[in-house]
Amino acid sequence: SVMREVAGINQMEKELEKKLQIKRVIIVAGDSDHSPWLKKELGLATANCMKSLLKGNNIIAVNGGTTMAAVAEMLTPNIVDGEWLFVPARGGIGEDVKNQANTICSMMADRTASKHRVLYAPDEVSKEMYKSIVKDARINEVLQLIKSASLLIHGIGDAITMAERRSTSASDLEKIVQAEAVGEAFGYYFNEDGEVVHKVQTIGLRLENLSTVPNVIAVAGGSSKSKAISAYLKKAPPSTILITDEGAAKNLI
Ligand code: G3H
Repeated sequence: SVMREVAGINQMEKELEKKLQIKRVIIVAGDSDHSPWLKKELGLATANCMKSLLKGNNIIAVNGGTTMAAVAEMLTPNIVDGEWLFVPARGGIGEDVKNQANTICSMMADRTASKHRVLYAPDEVSKEMYKSIVKDARINEVLQLIKSASLLIHGIGDAITMAERRSTSASDLEKIVQAEAVGEAFGYYFNEDGEVVHKVQTIGLRLENLSTVPNVIAVAGGSSKSKAISAYLKKAPPSTILITDEGAAKNLI
């Protein structure tokens, strides 16, 4: 019955919170690998979570990806109490325009009648370029906003899938494969133990900044992402809320 199904999911959420040592786990029924529309259910769960989490004025840092795009689609003005400002957490990191944080931020702002900022930064930058770019006033302003965000929302991807989808150089792809990376989040690639084995050199949020963000929501579903989710969560901040689906959750137990 439906009741029994709901009870089963609730129990799985509690079990996973304990096992993964994070603040909350929210599971939607189904497996997004087999039902692509389920990403919208993940989006709806994320919208509800944002509504209950955020009161008053908030700065929200957002990452890219198709899951974040689905979250944007499900936001509505009535979830906002006070004023929200959306900022992209990192530069383009090689994604198609529709999957970039800048695009998603502007969509989220439209949907919630909020404001947003644009990070005018190229995808990958050299060390020298990085040093001069962060001095630019417009970029520096966004970097400060990212640091004072009260919420970060981000996706988690399978490492190889992400590396192949992005404009990753052959040598970086080789490095990612050799290091046995299994997961990716905001341009960082993680091995099974949650250690960073590669990062896309771009402007924006650094892993070190994560512990100072009061609320973090990671949204990722589909059984094919279970290894990536488990790897990333090994070292994720305990304040993390995971929004996932049954397909991924079953493999995480
Ligand atoms: O940054 C992208 C995420 O790691 C995953 O992307 O939501 O399209 O699977 P996705």
